[in-house]
This record gives sequence, structure tokens and C-alpha cells, in this order.
Amino acid sequence: MPRDSDMLAQLMRRKPAHSLPRALYTDPDMYEVDLDRLWYTEWLFAIPGCEIPKTGNHITVQVGAYSVIIVRGTDGVIRAFHNSCRHRGSRICKAAKGSAPKLVCPYHQWTYELDGRLLWARDMGPEFDPAQHGLKPVHCRDAAGMVFICLAEVAPPFDALAEAATRYYGPHKLDACKVAYESTITEAANWKLVMENNRECYHCSGSHPALCVSFDDNPNIAGNGDGRNDPAIEAHLAKCEAAGLPSRFYIDDDSQWRFVRVPLLGKSVSYTMNGKQAVNRMVGDITLRDAGTLLFFHYPNTWNHFLADTVLLFRMLPLGPKETQVTTKWLVHKDAVEGVDYDLPRLTEVWTLTNDEDRAIVEQNQLGIDSPAYVPGPYSQIQESGVIQFVDWYANRMAERLTGRRLHAAE
Ligand code: FES
Ligand SMILES: [Fe+2]
Repeated sequence: MPRDSDMLAQLMRRKPAHSLPRALYTDPDMYEVDLDRLWYTEWLFAIPGCEIPKTGNHITVQVGAYSVIIVRGTDGVIRAFHNSCRHRGSRICKAAKGSAPKLVCPYHQWTYELDGRLLWARDMGPEFDPAQHGLKPVHCRDAAGMVFICLAEVAPPFDALAEAATRYYGPHKLDACKVAYESTITEAANWKLVMENNRECYHCSGSHPALCVSFDDNPNIAGNGDGRNDPAIEAHLAKCEAAGLPSRFYIDDDSQWRFVRVPLLGKSVSYTMNGKQAVNRMVGDITLRDAGTLLFFHYPNTWNHFLADTVLLFRMLPLGPKETQVTTKWLVHKDAVEGVDYDLPRLTEVWTLTNDEDRAIVEQNQLGIDSPAYVPGPYSQIQESGVIQFVDWYANRMAERLTGRRLHAAE
């Protein structure tokens, strides 16, 4: 495909530790390559499993051109299917969320079991074989309560991530949480600008007055640092590990995902306007109120914070070359009672403000890059090591997908 070779040419001319060439943030053809080579092949975070706790609960997720149904079966297992009927292709679930004993196509009522088998199709004649017309499955894995999907025919390995997820955020027991609140916003910017912005806190002091009450913009914490040689972080790691919470910096060999538990600022214990707790009841097995926040990102589409009393899950999905959807879910213990154990505005205000501030800055970033005057600029090695790490992952993974070989542009 010519656009694949255009993508490679763009990647070859990128300067190490610089923002990407303009086309990678603006060009519809480059966006299509992003979809084909990353979004349709990588594992993507879809939903917390606790959002579909009962048999028949289902959620639809749109990834580029694909609509996917995620549903809990009668056996309790969460599965994913293409949301396209095996009769004449109609979408089966049109609502974002629902619950049903079977999946019934609204067009001619072909009826599917929750595990995708076709159960009933009227007047299809004696030759018709229902077994050949089950819903097409989508790879689906549950990593300690975070459900990931992958649209590829053959999915990349997942076991190492699932194992690390269980170790690091297993103690937060996501399956014993509930979604207290969710928000979905649309940002008028390329998805890579949204992720780049997430991977640094160089912008935090200028943009996030509410977040900066509790979140430390120290680049050792907010960047790609592992906190080594920082006595305060070392002390925090030791305290958390002694309390049974795996906390030390861990990044996978491909740099696609990372865990580290970092302290919050001063005496803060949660993301509230005064840094005090947001929820009376802590999540899972956590007993340490000041456990700080466990940071977990997985490229290309999620970053997350696991606190003692709240779990914040962020999911990004691309809507267009310059349009990205960001969904945030605030999880609390399933037995925590709104108005008694937590106050919803107090629980949600810091990240509602922060998300909107981030939306505003990445939209300005996009508009500036849209100008033909844009030239890629240098990232700060001190403040933006996380961004460098993300764009290197992106460029290397893309080159690998296009050529079967690795590029080493970052040295
Ligand atoms: S398209 Fe689904 S039953 Fe006809
Ligand atoms: Fe931000």
C-alpha cells in the first residue's frame, strides 16, 4: 500500500527525542495506517469487568470501523464478538449498554446464545447449518478485572501482562468494585497527542491547579523515572511493599506497559480538592490509606490510577485523524454508599477538571501542528522522558508491523 510506504518514510525521517512529523498527527492516510497496524492488532482496554456483573449484561465498544459486543455468559465468562449479524450483517446491539438473556438481531430476529452460538433462525431451510453462523469472536481477556480486547486474527501475547496486573492491582480487587461515575469527552486532537500529554507533567503546574494539590509533578514520578535515587520515593516503595502491595517500577521488554506505585504530594491520600480521602471505605485488601497511586499504562489506549479508596480507569479510542474519545471511570468499593461513604461531586471534581484542562491543551497542540509552520521540536529529557518513551514505542512498533523489523531511531 502506498500509504504504508508513506508511513515508513515519515518514521525514517523523524528526529530522535523530537515530536513527530506533522503528517503523523494530521494526515487521514496516516491515521488509517495507525488503525490498521496498531488499533486493529494490539490489545486494547475495553471495560472493567465489574461493569457487566451479571449474565447477559453487555456493552458495545467502537474501535475505528469495528463495533464489538462484550457480554457476560451464563458461565460467568466475559466474551467479545463482532457486532454484526451473520445473516445480512445488521448490528445486533445498538445501545451502548444493555442486558438480555440472548443476543437477538433486531432485523430478522436471528437469536444468539451469550457465547455466540446461533440458536434460532426462522425458515432458513433444511440445508442451513446454524453451527456455521455463530457470531464472529473477538479476542477477549480479563486482566484482574480490566477487560482487554484484540481485533487481530492472531493476538499478541497477553499472559505476562495478566500476571503483572494480578500482582500489582490484584489487591485493589476490581471485581469487588462498582463504577460510581463515568464521563466520556471528545478531544479535537490526534490520539497520539492525547497520549503524549498524558505521559508528562511538564504542563501540570501551568494547567492543573486542582490536580497539583495532590499529584506530584516531580518528573521522577510523572515521567518515565523509576524513582531510584529519590529517598522519598524509595521510602514509599518500601512502606507499600511491606504492606503487601507490589509497587516497584516495572516496564515490559517492549515498553508497552508499566507499573509503579508513587506517593501523592504531602499528606494527600486521594485526588480531592484538599487531598483528603474521597471514600470512607477502601477498595479490596488495601489497608494503607496513604498507599499513594499505582500508575499503569498500556499503549495505545489506557492509563490508570489505583488509589487506596478509588480506582480511576482511563480509556482512549480514536474517532478520526483529529478526534479522540476519552472515557474515565471512577471505581469505588461495591458496598460504598453514595451520600454516606462518598460524595459524588467531591469524588469526581479533580479529574473532571483535569480532563477538561487536558482537552483544552491538546486541542491547542493540534491547532498549532495544523499550521504548515510547525516543525518537530525537542522533548525535554528531564521532563518528557515518558513522551520520548511513548513515541519510540509507537515508531518501533509501527515499523515492526510494516517491515517485520525493528527501527532504532531513539539513540
Ligand atoms: S440481519 Fe440479522 S437477522 Fe437478518
Ligand atoms: Fe494533564
